[in-house]
Amino acid sequence: MSATIIDGKERAAALRAQVARAVPRFTERTGRAPGLAVVLVGEDPASQVYVRSKGRQTIEAGMESFSFTLDASTTQEELLALVRRLNTDDAVDGILVQLPLPSQIDEHAVLAAIDPAKDVDGFHAINAGRLMAGLPSLVPCTPLGCSILVREQLGDLSGRHAVVVGRSNIVGKPVAMLMLHLNCTVTIAHSRTVDLPGVCRSADILIAAVGRPEMIRGEWIRPGATVIDVGINRLPANGDGKTRLVGDVDFASAVQVAGAITPVPGGVGPMTIACLLRNTLQAASARCGIAFDELMG
Ligand code: GUN
Repeated sequence: MSATIIDGKERAAALRAQVARAVPRFTERTGRAPGLAVVLVGEDPASQVYVRSKGRQTIEAGMESFSFTLDASTTQEELLALVRRLNTDDAVDGILVQLPLPSQIDEHAVLAAIDPAKDVDGFHAINAGRLMAGLPSLVPCTPLGCSILVREQLGDLSGRHAVVVGRSNIVGKPVAMLMLHLNCTVTIAHSRTVDLPGVCRSADILIAAVGRPEMIRGEWIRPGATVIDVGINRLPANGDGKTRLVGDVDFASAVQVAGAITPVPGGVGPMTIACLLRNTLQAASARCGIAFDELMG
């Protein structure tokens, strides 16, 4: 039997449309559009693609996009000065500093300098702590996208076993916390986990966020499980100089076993930017004392 393919593109388009419908309601009440500032340091080609895409989709949703491209030799002090300026700029509701940063810049120092109320990536320790405590917070975009896809696929998640493979601050830890808040029993597995295939096989919901191309194979998956593949790995294609994108899951074997699975590309990826737009509107609403849920309808 072949798994249901979870269409992240379609789901992301629906979320973007929902945000785009809510933006005029915000603008009507405040006299301005929500604003997102995206900062790119250096010339990493993948980051350039992501940042362009973020800017375009921000504008398409009816929001204001502020884009800052800094030289690869930018000092930490210069970047911190920009972040402080954006923190105090009333037209800016969300600030995103694209990662990775050049080696002369301490990523943690930069993320800590972002006003937590404008931290649309949800990476600030205040937002990470609030998520852990079950308090309202800005939630990292990729984990939020994963949780939306799983909820839409399965409905109530109470008592399901979610296995998260990967323990990064950006995906693994926050997505585990979201699954816990949705009443899953949660296991966080990683490179030192004993019998990783066996642990994966015990999952009702398997979330792969390890950054290892096609590591998780069909034999590691419990028949009928829901598989969410966060990996975006670029591999050389058939020796013709081109590349292809693959996930952390070996799709060809996994699709034979899983109940539902996200493809790469077209699964979790599109949800990330849609959730960024959602977070920007959430931050803008909170800054203006407007009920976000009411705005989203
Ligand atoms: N680089 C790769 N993914 C992300 C992300 O979600 N946010 C930021 N700021 N940088 C990234």
